[in-house]
Amino acid sequence: MNTSRQIKDNLWYIGASDRRLALFENMMPVPQGTSYNSYLLIDEKTVLLDTVDQSISAQFLENLTTLLKGRTLDYIIIHHVEPDHLASLNEVLVRFPKATIVCSMQAAKLIKQFMDIPEDANFQTVKEGDKLLIGKQTFNFIGAQMVHWPEVLVSYESSEKILFSADAFGTFGALSGNLFADELDFDLDWMNEARRYYTNIVGKYGCQVQNLLKKATALDISMICPLHGPIWRQDLAKFIEKYDFWSRYEPEDREILIIYGSMYGHTESAAMVLSGLLADKGCKNIKMFDVSATHVSYLVSESFRCSHIVLFAPTYNGGLYPPMENYLLDIKAHLLQNRVFALIENSSWAPVSGNAVKTILSEMKNTTILEPVISFKSSMKDSQRAELEELADAIVKSI
Ligand code: FEO
Repeated sequence: MNTSRQIKDNLWYIGASDRRLALFENMMPVPQGTSYNSYLLIDEKTVLLDTVDQSISAQFLENLTTLLKGRTLDYIIIHHVEPDHLASLNEVLVRFPKATIVCSMQAAKLIKQFMDIPEDANFQTVKEGDKLLIGKQTFNFIGAQMVHWPEVLVSYESSEKILFSADAFGTFGALSGNLFADELDFDLDWMNEARRYYTNIVGKYGCQVQNLLKKATALDISMICPLHGPIWRQDLAKFIEKYDFWSRYEPEDREILIIYGSMYGHTESAAMVLSGLLADKGCKNIKMFDVSATHVSYLVSESFRCSHIVLFAPTYNGGLYPPMENYLLDIKAHLLQNRVFALIENSSWAPVSGNAVKTILSEMKNTTILEPVISFKSSMKDSQRAELEELADAIVKSI
């Protein structure tokens, strides 16, 4: 059955959602599923805007062919070639072999790397500044390199003022009938997943996102159509402002994130004591996570949100507890910066985790480690409560 939805007079949503996917990119849990968005614009010419992941290919193809009602497909604009958007291209070409694939030069090369495209497939490569006239409407192409891959273009349809933004302004989460962000309680139900999507997928490319934001703010945009998650037609500035924070690596909230590793509960106890001290001193919305029990994508996301990060790091195998090391290497890989850290190490005979953490943090831009750095052996004793008090005071003063 055709599940497409009309967005404008001549623009349809023809994507779908996958609620069975466990891990996005086979890494990140998506308990609320994910949508793969694709759009069809029908003017004097017919234009498909990106394809979809293979998991929802059948539904997408039914939507596409039903809406075209026997008309041919003239253009397929490929903004981004990651297979969650590209995988159905060959299936489209089987049905519409004369369609012209419009994409960047690098995308044309990558498409041929990912799939055996028919040799006689028509390509039209475009770059920033190029236009595609399809009747009353015109697509204007804008370079968006590294948001999230090097070949990415976004396009701005200037008569309806629609930005087709590729991965930018996307979010994890399946769509459940409501296509538009203004039909949802986005702040309550979606923002955390939008942040987790951004930080883990595009977080490393803050500089490139800033470049795209500069180009976007020069446009008069009435609607943003991303490749994942809801469409934006109201309060665009609110979401764009979030992207500005995230891509400048500035914390959204001056709040405390505590991340601990604990094999037998002793380090967790110390973390509980410090969190209680901080609460007693008036800190609100403290978030605490067991690094072994929480997927690192959630920790990356919260690390982008919070200004202060407290690490309770056990020593392990003469080094750093592996889940803690994995978390730190991940935030370093995502270029997290401008954060204040507090550090508590634990060891039973040879303390090294503190220095291992310091080494990683020293390779991240503009990070501060508050004093005192605390070290304890096996389990923290009441005699060290004063040290925790001193650290709590330092955190409160810093916030
Ligand atoms: Fe949703 Fe970078 O692909």
